[in-house]
Amino acid sequence: MSNLNAAIVLAAGEGKRMHSSTPKVLHPICGMPMLGHVLETVEELKPTQIITVVGHGKERVTKYLTSEFKKVKTVVQKQQKGTGHAVQTALAAMNNFKGLVLITAGDTPLLTSDSIALLVNAAKESKAAVLTADLPDPTGYGRIIRLASMVDRIVEQSEATSEELEITEINTGVYVFDVEILKKAITQLKANNKQGEIYLTDVIAVINSMGESVTAVMCQDYLEALGINDRSQLALAQQILQQTINEYWMSQGVSMRNPDSVVIDVNVELGQDVFLDNNTHLLANTRIGNNSVIGPDTMLKDCVVGTNSHVLRTTAISAKIGNNCEIGPYTYLRPGTVLKNRVKAGAYVEIKNSTVGEGSKVPHLSYVGDASIGIETNIGAATIFVNYDGVQKHKTVVGDHVKIGSDTMLVAPVKIGDGAYTAAGSVITENVPAGALGVERTKQRNIEGWVARKRGKTKSSSTTRRTRSKKRKK
Ligand code: UD1
Ligand code: CA
Repeated sequence: MSNLNAAIVLAAGEGKRMHSSTPKVLHPICGMPMLGHVLETVEELKPTQIITVVGHGKERVTKYLTSEFKKVKTVVQKQQKGTGHAVQTALAAMNNFKGLVLITAGDTPLLTSDSIALLVNAAKESKAAVLTADLPDPTGYGRIIRLASMVDRIVEQSEATSEELEITEINTGVYVFDVEILKKAITQLKANNKQGEIYLTDVIAVINSMGESVTAVMCQDYLEALGINDRSQLALAQQILQQTINEYWMSQGVSMRNPDSVVIDVNVELGQDVFLDNNTHLLANTRIGNNSVIGPDTMLKDCVVGTNSHVLRTTAISAKIGNNCEIGPYTYLRPGTVLKNRVKAGAYVEIKNSTVGEGSKVPHLSYVGDASIGIETNIGAATIFVNYDGVQKHKTVVGDHVKIGSDTMLVAPVKIGDGAYTAAGSVITENVPAGALGVERTKQRNIEGWVARKRGKTKSSSTTRRTRSKKRKK
């Protein structure tokens, strides 16, 4: 598509300004590390090879790359001596190739492949091109020093004169070069700056001195150029990307009562006529089917929700919710929960590693763990699946059309047969056969006159006396 022979992604820097134990490029934006955003964009341009320069936190960065971007190669820059040194390290590790090479940074996650494609086209003509942006506040970025319509050189913030600091056109840190020219120029870089680093930006002046010229391509939308060096830039990138994601889903037929309060990660997928109420967070690989209503105050991570379901004030992780389900409020669904169609899971219900069959209900105040529940079964209020004996977890199997009485303890391993009942308040430790009533309670006895004898001076006692005399008069 773009005739790119190679791409080099710089991701070795420490990111000091983040003050973090996590390498900067692994900080997530809308559920994906910023390096992932960059690499997805670069992959859209279909370069023949991609190499990422790693260094600081290289074990973690490499682990991420080998699991998510199998085709991307890495090279280690042992000491972070600057962006120019990082590119030297990459070129030294690559086989000889001809043609165009893209260089971009792992900390510029909002750049689009459209902008980079324009840059590639420009480099086909001039053999060297820089992507620039016109920023309202250019502080911190390298400034573009123009020579007529071309780029003469780039000056870093720390090296710039007060006049140069007035320039609002900045270097995005994305370049496309003919590799022959880059290789010649890059050997001439020196660390003659206040930071003592080898700056890739100096390569522009070198190319000019070689008698070649450098083109600038300016981003249409300056927000694309945002480089993430600190936490507030990270938050800003999150905010910008979130808005883009939410607008995309609205354009696809999803409604949001207040889009600013809705969080949707990049890999989430939503059906048509989904309604997202306030403070809904849809994270990781969550999928929501057509016509489902989610929220308010709901967090779903790695969940699947079918069609026409309603999930209200719920926290769910790695759970599957079928079609026409009613979930919430105040429901906690943990990994391994599978709720088939028409299931109800109501207030203060926690479910873990369990399957609830079609049309079954767990309406109130219950814990369901390591269980399999059949179809059209009702689990009475405050039922506990006692799955843990202090050492091991055990399984409970409840059949179809079962009625579990309120406040039943189902002590696993135990089986409740199809159509069976359990009496309220029972501690069920033995299997209940199909169609039987399992009851485990002592018989109730009432001690007459106990309150008058033992609590004579209380209101309970005087009320009792009045009630009794009224009864006698009748
Ligand atoms: C750099 C540019 C600046 C530009 C800005 C855009 C230089 C000297 N400056 O500044 O002109 O406006 O990006 O965001 O290039 N890295 C390495 N090895 C190193 C040093 C850095 O791999 O030895 C990587 C970092 O991980 C990062 C990228 O290169 O992903 C840019 O480095 P950073 O220190 O963030 O440069 P800036 O100061 O932002
Ligand atoms: Ca940066």
